[in-house]
Amino acid sequence: MLNEKMKNALTDQVNEEFYSAYLYLSMSAYFSKIGLKGFANWMMVQYKEEVDHGMKMFNYILSRGEDVKLHTIKEPPTEWESPLQVFEETLNHEQHITERINYLIDVAEEVKDRATYNFLQWFIDEQVEEEENDREIIDRLKFIGDNGNGLFMLDRDLGTRTYTPLTNEEA
Ligand code: FEO
Repeated sequence: MLNEKMKNALTDQVNEEFYSAYLYLSMSAYFSKIGLKGFANWMMVQYKEEVDHGMKMFNYILSRGEDVKLHTIKEPPTEWESPLQVFEETLNHEQHITERINYLIDVAEEVKDRATYNFLQWFIDEQVEEEENDREIIDRLKFIGDNGNGLFMLDRDLGTRTYTPLTNEEA
């Protein structure tokens, strides 16, 4: 059993995570379209990670004996001005997700739900890592500026990112 407010907030977060997946999938398509295959790969890995986050949240609600009523996923944008703009939007979005996770923790504390409080700690750590990754790429993109060679090298680096599924304990 979950407190109603807690359950609703967690269900909203399932939607937030799946929207994140959609957003990054759309960004991956954008990068493919402009010929940056490494960037497209990086975003495709990010898409898969967001699906994992959504599923982790979904499975947790079920594990507490609740049903899950899924909401409509809104349509993501499809066009950006530059790789830098994409990553600035990515960082903004992740900061929004961090605020959402902090809100969930506030609710867990408010309703004294220790199990959910503990469950959410994994997401806190994940958000720190995600924001850090985005900042690092933004810094590199700013440093590169209009240098085509630099962009080519970054594209090659981002192409090496691989997807690692969550372990059984993490999922
Ligand atoms: Fe699921 Fe990127 O936070």
